[in-house]
Amino acid sequence: MKRYEALAELIAADIRNGTLPPGTKLPSVRKLRLQHQVSPSTIFEAYRRLEDRGLVRARERSGFFVLGTGTLLEPKTSMVLAQPAQVDISQLVFSILGAVQDRNVLPLGSAFPSPKLFPLPRLAKSLASSARYIDPWETVASLPPGHLALRQQIALRYLGMGMPQPPENIIITNGALEALNLCLAAVAQPGDLIAIESPGFYAALQAIERLKMKALEIPVHAKDGLDLDALEALLAQHPVKACWLMTSFQNPMGASMSEEKKQRLVAMLTQRQIPLIEDDVYGELYFGNRQPLPAKAFDQEGWVMHCSSFSKCLAPGYRIGWVSPGRFGKQIEQLKLMTTLSASVPAQVAIADYLQTGAYDKHLRKLRHTLESQLTLMNEAILRYFPAEVRVSRPQGGYFVWVEFPEGFDTLRLHREAVELGISIAPGPIFSASRQYHHCIRLNYGGNWDGYYDKALQQLGALIQLQLSGC
Ligand SMILES: Cc1ncc(COP(=O)(O)O)c(C=O)c1O
Repeated sequence: MKRYEALAELIAADIRNGTLPPGTKLPSVRKLRLQHQVSPSTIFEAYRRLEDRGLVRARERSGFFVLGTGTLLEPKTSMVLAQPAQVDISQLVFSILGAVQDRNVLPLGSAFPSPKLFPLPRLAKSLASSARYIDPWETVASLPPGHLALRQQIALRYLGMGMPQPPENIIITNGALEALNLCLAAVAQPGDLIAIESPGFYAALQAIERLKMKALEIPVHAKDGLDLDALEALLAQHPVKACWLMTSFQNPMGASMSEEKKQRLVAMLTQRQIPLIEDDVYGELYFGNRQPLPAKAFDQEGWVMHCSSFSKCLAPGYRIGWVSPGRFGKQIEQLKLMTTLSASVPAQVAIADYLQTGAYDKHLRKLRHTLESQLTLMNEAILRYFPAEVRVSRPQGGYFVWVEFPEGFDTLRLHREAVELGISIAPGPIFSASRQYHHCIRLNYGGNWDGYYDKALQQLGALIQLQLSGC
């Protein structure tokens, strides 16, 4: 890392942890020069980097000031404990998310970032050459567990995080969603009880519904993720067969557990021999200095199945994901062979080729900076246009914020009214088996941010004000 990058990271960390609150003037060049023994040009370059990331803004002849969201309130945990239940959510999810596919609708409710944030032309080159030069035997050789060169590249990324997972332990799948579904089918049967987050990713609810299992909702805090005490208490009362959780940049709240909490989670589940299906699709989209370790990093006995993909950070639509399956590799591989056989071989070869160029980390750095600066823009717009009583989560990565309105607010109505104006949102009830969170929405700040976003948030703010005033 260059010196100005290291300095920018130090200051960004202070902004994130509140040591430098919004509105603060950044230290003078003279002070920083003495503190860090760096040249003025290094300091200016660091400040310019922070400005590009939307963390600070220069004011003419006054210096650089911290932008930010310090005045936004954080969501309260509002989950009401619910009994284990059959899940019946799919029709609601389908009816709401249909709007996201319409190109004319501004996708604040989407689960995807803008495709424009990805190096698609460079990937297309890899895809073209993989299609041209692919060894015909590769289609057979790449049957599960998958294309070796790709598994080696994924293994290298695990190694870089300090949590080695050898290539032979990695199974390539059609996106993370297939990996997650295969894991669930490998460890549980119809009628079994699965612990999930509340609010949580609706595809987990849909998988439980499809496989005729039951869901047990565990509360998630906006700041530090899953409530481990609640999980422990519920595990003592109910025969939970498996857990399906996101430990970093959780969808929909953006919440993350600390590494200490992840370690405690793994110990708690290992002791009870309960498998953990860990969904880590946003792990690479961190705003801090390094990727947070997933729970898998603390798994000594193989009870954690770590699932991820390239869909959110490199190659949407290529449908390439994977699982590091712990002790369940054989069952998962056989289920894969019995269902979709293999992920697309040209797509696997293309991604392996791209990763071998070494360009991925540079792309990720840029993507993270873009997302972080768009988070600032989103928060500024919320401050400007939404009523002061709304509460907003403060993710440290990913591209979702969770917005909480006063109790009684109807976000299904807000969704209907917003779609009329050409704006989608993701209303709270789709994130809960017991259809809670009627007063909450998830907003996506990973779109192709332009003038339309500000206008859309202004229009949304007007709809919110109208509903709150009783109209
Ligand atoms: C939390 C979460 N997990 C998994 C997925 C699915 O990932 P993939 O597109 O790689 O199947 C998504 C996509 O929306 C997601 O938001």
